Amino acid sequence: MYKIIFGWIIGALLLLQAVRIDLPSPPSHIDPKNEITAPEEIMTMLRTSCYDCHSYETKMPWYGHISPVSLQVNSHIKQGRAWLNFQEWSSYDTEKQQKIYKGIVDTINLRMPVPMYLTFHDEAKLTKEQRDTIRKWAENQLKEENQ
Ligand code: HEC
Repeated sequence: MYKIIFGWIIGALLLLQAVRIDLPSPPSHIDPKNEITAPEEIMTMLRTSCYDCHSYETKMPWYGHISPVSLQVNSHIKQGRAWLNFQEWSSYDTEKQQKIYKGIVDTINLRMPVPMYLTFHDEAKLTKEQRDTIRKWAENQLKEENQ
């Protein structure tokens, strides 16, 4: 009995592999001048904790290509890039940039990086101090540009 159920599960998982949703490939030329500029300390944190979803530099783990995981992962990356791509920063107008800084202040303590993602990515975890540093940096950007 168990063997049959197990067989069905394996069969279903194999079938699911037919569903391939690939990420749109990044543009062939990424202009480094478009990237956000921030102090090196901030850039390092953004690169390790945010770039998988908010840049073209997605490092995909092997299981990220296997459905149903890939469905969830790809949707995170597509949505993440659409909201905010740190490598497209200079193409955003001031209003959008300000909205993003505000978004960072609002989300850095709880919602970003996506908690589900953090359960698989220890390296992307941020300490409370690191989150504070990012929040303060984003707050300063807000003040500066609103003056
Ligand atoms: C696993 C993918 C993933 C990672 C990693 C990630 N994000 Fe996001 N981010 C998303 C998705 C998906 C959305 C859009 C949907 C939402 O708001 O949940 C988003 C939305 C946002 C928004 C807009 C939210 C709003 O409501 O204004 C900000 C700001 C943001 N992310 C900042 C960050 C920062 C900063 C980091 C790193 C510290 C980060 N994200 C890491 C996937 C990710």
